[in-house]
Amino acid sequence: MKATAKAHTNIALIKYWGKRDETLILPTNNSLSVTLDGFYTTTSVEFNEQFTKDTFVLDDVSIAGEQYQRVANFLNLVRQLAGKEIYAEVKSTNAVPTAAGFASSASGFAALAAASTKAIGLKLDNTELSRLTRQGSGSACRSIFGGFAEWKKGEKDDGTDSFAVPITPKEHWDIRVAAVVLSSKMKKVSSREGMKRTVDTSPFFQGWVDSIPTDLAEIKEGIFAKDFEKVGQIAEANCLKMHATTLGAQPPFTYWLDTTVTVMQTVRALREQGIPAYFTIDAGPNVKVLYLPENEEEVQSTLRNIPGVTDVKLSRVGQGITYLEDESIV
Ligand code: PMV
Repeated sequence: MKATAKAHTNIALIKYWGKRDETLILPTNNSLSVTLDGFYTTTSVEFNEQFTKDTFVLDDVSIAGEQYQRVANFLNLVRQLAGKEIYAEVKSTNAVPTAAGFASSASGFAALAAASTKAIGLKLDNTELSRLTRQGSGSACRSIFGGFAEWKKGEKDDGTDSFAVPITPKEHWDIRVAAVVLSSKMKKVSSREGMKRTVDTSPFFQGWVDSIPTDLAEIKEGIFAKDFEKVGQIAEANCLKMHATTLGAQPPFTYWLDTTVTVMQTVRALREQGIPAYFTIDAGPNVKVLYLPENEEEVQSTLRNIPGVTDVKLSRVGQGITYLEDESIV
């Protein structure tokens, strides 16, 4: 009873920021992301009657503590769904530079969900898989799909209508994303803690939630029409709105560093020179820059030259989950 799956991380252009249910991981707003081929996790899961507990090895290191517990809790959901009391050995390899500020939890939980459900003999379609993945890590439910995907927040208390749906496949549009890595060891407010504090205390939170339907409708129009400027403008503005909510929280916080702001200004300067480039930022100081293939060299060299930038990692649009037996795996 063994299976191996590969999942890519994703970057949200319309952010998920705020939960209406912390246990089931139900969001207060729909979000929309693009899956990236450059960053992924490969996970093997073996269920065996001989095992006396779950084990989790990440990049050849045996994991304990909170990280282990999140994996074991997720496997409990899988066991419950399958009606089987059987432990698993989980082995993961991350090709997600954690320093690049990508939530490796997105590709991690998507790969874990795909491999574990297959290994235990469940036959889930991608909607069911996305719904289950959501309960490991919210943003991970979007990584089931390639290309652009939208996570529907759903209305129900039990979360059955909260899962991601594909918007366009990866072949639809060749846009690029540069992950700009900054030299900081700043202590991070986790996305979990940051969202909670914002929902509980920020007077800007309701404004954020109210602004989402328009952003979503417009960015989808832009994606379908391959209107890069429109998509970039909406994504950048949506990111700024999300980060503005954190300044209104109590106690206030921000994920930005001085270099974060410098990168943002540099991206705007690129636009003034006629190069369409737009930024987005998650729950950390690093910046992701959206650009078009024809501007790759110029964008890359400009970003690399910013003092305080330690690395720039480029990615194309990626595919959804794959299983190792698939021909499509490379
Ligand atoms: O799913 P989490 O807990 O990693 O939260 C992700 C939140 C953001 O990255 C800030 C936004 C998003 O939609 O991915």
